[in-house]
Amino acid sequence: MAESRYRTTSERRAEIQENAARMGIDDEYISRLVDTFYERIRDDETLGPIFLDNVPNWDVHMPKMKDFWSSVALHSSRYSGRPVPAHVKLIKDVEPRHFELWLALFEKTLEDTAPTKEAIPYFMDRAERIARSLQLAMFGDPELPELQS
Ligand code: HEM
Repeated sequence: MAESRYRTTSERRAEIQENAARMGIDDEYISRLVDTFYERIRDDETLGPIFLDNVPNWDVHMPKMKDFWSSVALHSSRYSGRPVPAHVKLIKDVEPRHFELWLALFEKTLEDTAPTKEAIPYFMDRAERIARSLQLAMFGDPELPELQS
Protein backbone atom coordinates (compact mmCIF):
# COMPACT_ATOMS: atom_id res chain seq x y z
CA MET A 1 0.00 0.00 0.00
CA ALA A 2 1.30 3.47 -0.88
CA GLU A 3 2.51 5.47 2.09
CA SER A 4 0.09 8.26 2.85
CA ARG A 5 0.77 11.10 5.29
CA TYR A 6 0.28 14.83 5.58
CA ARG A 7 3.10 16.95 4.21
CA THR A 8 4.93 19.16 6.66
CA THR A 9 4.84 22.94 6.28
CA SER A 10 8.45 22.99 5.09
CA GLU A 11 7.79 20.27 2.50
CA ARG A 12 4.81 22.24 1.24
CA ARG A 13 6.84 25.46 1.15
CA ALA A 14 9.65 23.73 -0.78
CA GLU A 15 7.11 22.46 -3.31
CA ILE A 16 5.59 25.95 -3.77
CA GLN A 17 9.04 27.50 -4.19
CA GLU A 18 10.09 24.88 -6.76
CA ASN A 19 6.89 25.48 -8.70
CA ALA A 20 7.46 29.26 -8.56
CA ALA A 21 11.13 28.85 -9.57
CA ARG A 22 10.02 26.97 -12.69
CA MET A 23 8.12 30.16 -13.63
CA GLY A 24 11.21 32.28 -12.87
CA ILE A 25 9.68 33.67 -9.66
CA ASP A 26 12.10 34.22 -6.78
CA ASP A 27 12.91 37.00 -4.29
CA GLU A 28 15.13 38.75 -6.81
CA TYR A 29 12.25 39.02 -9.29
CA ILE A 30 9.81 40.06 -6.53
CA SER A 31 12.13 42.88 -5.51
CA ARG A 32 12.24 44.12 -9.13
CA LEU A 33 8.47 43.78 -9.53
CA VAL A 34 7.75 45.77 -6.36
CA ASP A 35 10.31 48.49 -7.20
CA THR A 36 8.91 48.91 -10.72
CA PHE A 37 5.27 48.81 -9.60
CA TYR A 38 5.63 51.49 -6.90
CA GLU A 39 7.71 53.68 -9.22
CA ARG A 40 4.73 53.58 -11.62
CA ILE A 41 2.20 54.03 -8.79
CA ARG A 42 4.00 57.19 -7.66
CA ASP A 43 3.97 58.51 -11.27
CA ASP A 44 0.28 57.72 -11.80
CA GLU A 45 -1.82 60.90 -11.86
CA THR A 46 -4.71 59.35 -9.86
CA LEU A 47 -3.02 56.79 -7.59
CA GLY A 48 0.22 58.74 -7.05
CA PRO A 49 -1.28 61.44 -4.79
CA ILE A 50 -3.23 58.85 -2.73
CA PHE A 51 -0.06 56.88 -1.97
CA LEU A 52 2.07 59.98 -1.44
CA ASP A 53 -0.48 61.30 1.09
CA ASN A 54 -0.91 58.00 2.95
CA VAL A 55 2.36 56.08 2.98
CA PRO A 56 4.02 57.39 6.15
CA ASN A 57 7.52 56.12 5.30
CA TRP A 58 8.63 54.71 1.94
CA ASP A 59 11.77 53.19 3.48
CA VAL A 60 9.46 51.05 5.63
CA HIS A 61 6.78 50.47 2.97
CA MET A 62 9.03 49.08 0.21
CA PRO A 63 10.74 46.26 2.17
CA LYS A 64 7.36 45.47 3.76
CA MET A 65 5.75 45.05 0.33
CA LYS A 66 8.64 42.82 -0.81
CA ASP A 67 8.10 40.65 2.29
CA PHE A 68 4.35 40.63 1.60
CA TRP A 69 4.73 39.42 -2.00
CA SER A 70 7.40 36.92 -0.97
CA SER A 71 4.93 35.50 1.58
CA VAL A 72 2.08 35.43 -0.95
CA ALA A 73 4.02 34.03 -3.91
CA LEU A 74 6.67 31.89 -2.18
CA HIS A 75 5.06 31.20 1.23
CA SER A 76 8.22 32.57 2.83
CA SER A 77 6.30 33.75 5.96
CA ARG A 78 8.29 36.99 5.98
CA TYR A 79 5.23 39.24 6.25
CA SER A 80 3.18 39.34 9.42
CA GLY A 81 1.26 42.62 9.11
CA ARG A 82 -2.47 43.32 8.91
CA PRO A 83 -3.49 44.67 5.49
CA VAL A 84 -7.21 45.10 6.30
CA PRO A 85 -6.93 47.86 8.96
CA ALA A 86 -4.18 49.54 6.87
CA HIS A 87 -6.72 49.94 4.03
CA VAL A 88 -9.90 50.51 6.05
CA LYS A 89 -8.32 53.69 7.40
CA LEU A 90 -7.93 54.94 3.78
CA ILE A 91 -11.70 54.96 3.22
CA LYS A 92 -11.90 58.77 2.86
CA ASP A 93 -9.46 58.75 -0.08
CA VAL A 94 -10.06 55.42 -1.84
CA GLU A 95 -12.95 54.27 -4.06
CA PRO A 96 -13.59 50.94 -5.83
CA ARG A 97 -12.43 52.46 -9.16
CA HIS A 98 -8.97 52.98 -7.59
CA PHE A 99 -8.70 49.21 -7.11
CA GLU A 100 -9.44 48.77 -10.84
CA LEU A 101 -6.60 51.18 -11.63
CA TRP A 102 -4.29 49.44 -9.13
CA LEU A 103 -4.96 46.03 -10.70
CA ALA A 104 -4.52 47.35 -14.27
CA LEU A 105 -1.18 48.94 -13.35
CA PHE A 106 -0.04 45.78 -11.58
CA GLU A 107 -0.93 43.69 -14.64
CA LYS A 108 0.88 46.07 -16.99
CA THR A 109 3.96 45.96 -14.74
CA LEU A 110 3.85 42.15 -14.82
CA GLU A 111 3.50 42.13 -18.61
CA ASP A 112 6.57 44.37 -18.90
CA THR A 113 8.76 42.52 -16.37
CA ALA A 114 7.58 38.91 -15.83
CA PRO A 115 10.29 36.27 -16.34
CA THR A 116 7.76 33.87 -18.00
CA LYS A 117 4.22 34.31 -19.23
CA GLU A 118 2.90 31.87 -16.58
CA ALA A 119 4.11 34.27 -13.88
CA ILE A 120 1.50 36.86 -14.92
CA PRO A 121 -1.67 34.91 -13.93
CA TYR A 122 0.19 33.51 -10.91
CA PHE A 123 0.51 37.03 -9.46
CA MET A 124 -2.76 38.38 -10.90
CA ASP A 125 -4.93 35.61 -9.40
CA ARG A 126 -3.51 36.35 -5.99
CA ALA A 127 -3.70 40.14 -6.37
CA GLU A 128 -7.35 39.96 -7.53
CA ARG A 129 -8.34 37.74 -4.62
CA ILE A 130 -6.66 40.02 -2.06
CA ALA A 131 -8.08 43.15 -3.75
CA ARG A 132 -11.57 41.64 -3.49
CA SER A 133 -11.21 40.91 0.20
CA LEU A 134 -9.79 44.38 0.93
CA GLN A 135 -12.73 45.95 -0.93
CA LEU A 136 -15.19 43.77 0.95
CA ALA A 137 -13.71 45.04 4.22
CA MET A 138 -13.74 48.67 3.02
CA PHE A 139 -16.99 48.96 1.07
CA GLY A 140 -19.03 45.86 1.97
CA ASP A 141 -20.62 43.53 -0.58
CA PRO A 142 -22.49 45.46 -3.32
CA GLU A 143 -24.56 42.32 -4.02
CA LEU A 144 -26.09 42.42 -0.55
CA PRO A 145 -28.97 44.79 0.26
CA GLU A 146 -28.34 47.38 2.98
CA LEU A 147 -29.59 46.08 6.30
CA GLN A 148 -32.33 48.21 7.88
CA SER A 149 -31.49 49.43 11.35
C1 HEM B 1 -6.41 51.42 -4.72
C2 HEM B 1 -5.87 50.39 -4.12
C3 HEM B 1 -4.89 50.53 -2.98
C4 HEM B 1 -4.45 51.64 -2.32
C5 HEM B 1 -4.81 53.11 -2.55
C6 HEM B 1 -3.51 51.19 -1.30
C7 HEM B 1 -2.82 52.01 -0.45
C8 HEM B 1 -1.99 51.60 0.55
C9 HEM B 1 -1.33 52.48 1.49
C10 HEM B 1 -1.41 54.00 1.49
C11 HEM B 1 -0.64 51.71 2.36
C12 HEM B 1 0.22 52.19 3.56
C13 HEM B 1 -0.59 52.20 4.81
C14 HEM B 1 0.24 52.51 6.06
O1 HEM B 1 1.43 52.16 6.12
O2 HEM B 1 -0.32 53.10 6.97
C15 HEM B 1 -0.85 50.33 1.96
C16 HEM B 1 -0.31 49.25 2.59
C17 HEM B 1 -0.41 47.97 2.12
N1 HEM B 1 -1.05 47.55 0.97
FE1 HEM B 1 -2.24 48.66 -0.19
N2 HEM B 1 -3.39 49.83 -1.38
C18 HEM B 1 -4.20 49.39 -2.39
C19 HEM B 1 -4.37 48.09 -2.81
C20 HEM B 1 -3.67 47.02 -2.34
C21 HEM B 1 -3.76 45.68 -2.85
C22 HEM B 1 -4.67 45.23 -4.00
C23 HEM B 1 -2.90 44.92 -2.10
C24 HEM B 1 -2.56 43.45 -2.20
C25 HEM B 1 -2.73 42.73 -3.30
C26 HEM B 1 -2.29 45.79 -1.11
C27 HEM B 1 -1.40 45.39 -0.14
C28 HEM B 1 -0.90 46.19 0.87
C29 HEM B 1 -0.12 45.70 2.01
C30 HEM B 1 0.28 44.27 2.29
C31 HEM B 1 0.18 46.82 2.80
C32 HEM B 1 0.97 46.85 4.11
C33 HEM B 1 0.00 46.79 5.30
C34 HEM B 1 0.78 46.76 6.61
O3 HEM B 1 1.12 47.83 7.13
O4 HEM B 1 1.10 45.64 7.08
N3 HEM B 1 -2.76 47.05 -1.29
N4 HEM B 1 -1.67 50.30 0.86
